[in-house]
Amino acid sequence: MSSAHETREMHDTLFLFGATGDLAQRYLFPSLLRLLGDGLLPEDFKVRALALSPHDTAKFHDILRPRLEQAMPQARQEDINDLLRRIDYRSVDLRNAESVAEAVKDLVDRRCVSYLAIPPGLYISTCEGLALGGALAAPHRLMLEKPIGSDSASAEEILQTIGKWIDEDRVFRLDHYLGKAAVQNLMALRFGNTLLEAVWNRNYIESVHIMVAESDGVDGRDSYYSRSGALRDMVQSHILQLLCLVAMEPPASLEADRIRDEKVKVLRALRPFDARHAAKDSVRGRYTAGTINDQPVQAYQPPEGSEAETFVGVTAHIDNWRWAGVPFHMVTGKRLPERTTRIEVNLKPVTHWLFERPTRHHASANRLTFQLQPQENIQLGLMSSLAGPEWGALELQPLELELSVPTGLHRRIAYERLFLDAFNGNHALFVRDDEVRAAWAWIDSISDAWKASDQAMEPYAAGSWGPRDAAHFLPGDIVAEARAEDGDAP
Ligand code: BG6
Repeated sequence: MSSAHETREMHDTLFLFGATGDLAQRYLFPSLLRLLGDGLLPEDFKVRALALSPHDTAKFHDILRPRLEQAMPQARQEDINDLLRRIDYRSVDLRNAESVAEAVKDLVDRRCVSYLAIPPGLYISTCEGLALGGALAAPHRLMLEKPIGSDSASAEEILQTIGKWIDEDRVFRLDHYLGKAAVQNLMALRFGNTLLEAVWNRNYIESVHIMVAESDGVDGRDSYYSRSGALRDMVQSHILQLLCLVAMEPPASLEADRIRDEKVKVLRALRPFDARHAAKDSVRGRYTAGTINDQPVQAYQPPEGSEAETFVGVTAHIDNWRWAGVPFHMVTGKRLPERTTRIEVNLKPVTHWLFERPTRHHASANRLTFQLQPQENIQLGLMSSLAGPEWGALELQPLELELSVPTGLHRRIAYERLFLDAFNGNHALFVRDDEVRAAWAWIDSISDAWKASDQAMEPYAAGSWGPRDAAHFLPGDIVAEARAEDGDAP
């Protein structure tokens, strides 16, 4: 718990735009509730909830209270009452700068943070209103949800226009994956352990797989998703951020800009996609009807003309000294059999094989798997003779070491950490403008290559591990599982 002294300098007023939306109701308000209950917010913390609906504060509280109770069944009523007491509501038209200015200007003598949990198409008009109302001048801050735009051109327009009203050092662009403890642990593991850092390069690593699989579908987000699709929704943000943490050089310190300097170098070293190799280096798919957990689920049917894929596999090449020749296979999809996020690092086989059994060809090279969700776990695949005959060390078998640590701690919602860091002014877990630009440049090269090569949209049944051609991009154990289910020989 922070002392009053530690929280004294924190920003104390939150303008939460998109307050009636799903993100705010499911994650943002519950995160504030936890922080408040744990005494981590300033004494006089205040939230102004803003959205289009013509509610008054009492009506908004009536809507929010059951959502909080549902999201946080263990929450104490006194904490819920305390949070609601600090929230007032204003109806606002985000297309109208005057309306936005009017809704915030009575609070700008406090230290304000505006959080835009709204479609990126409304960022510019909302920020124009915030600037007009005085809420973007120093010391006020701005938190922006992903995605920033939908390609390089729209991102550039948002970055430049908003950049006229607020300095980069007061902008906090969220990628909620960076707020997850398990994701932060990637840096801890890499840079806190000689054992890992010593082999973390092209001399020892054969390939890396990054997978974010979801069993949920598009449900309820059709209008956003039909214009976005998995490449823009997931790869541009969460998956590229995971890639950066796996591939970046050690930063000189944990200072925010030293970390972000190293991440942006990775993004800039990504080899642009080429239409000639698009079919080999990528796969895109869209789910059809199927079954998940014995429940039938419907096909995704976006409106006519939508190009939205719900599954992407891409192989990235990082053209630098550390990673030359190491493929990074990245895959994400909706309506896959389970929700699981993992990073698999496949090491090269040993250079000379001494053992009789298995033959060299059947030996498994070492593999390190970081399971990030739903449970955190680290698995190390080794070869050993422990399970071999009593007197012989010539027969090796795979040995899986599980390094899961049951901490007993409750994991915080990613947004709790991100709120605290933004209120305290720490940028380390936020995305800098040059990262946004570099990520979009690479994503644009993929969508251009898809267009130029007329890349097919492959169907896959909901509940399967994606289209048939996805195997190349999936981690090894998932491929084995998928083959077993199809009845294929291993
Ligand atoms: C969001 C995407 O950013 O992340 C969603 O827009 C996706 O499509 C979600 O479902 C996944 O987040 P998490 O934390 O559930 O893995």
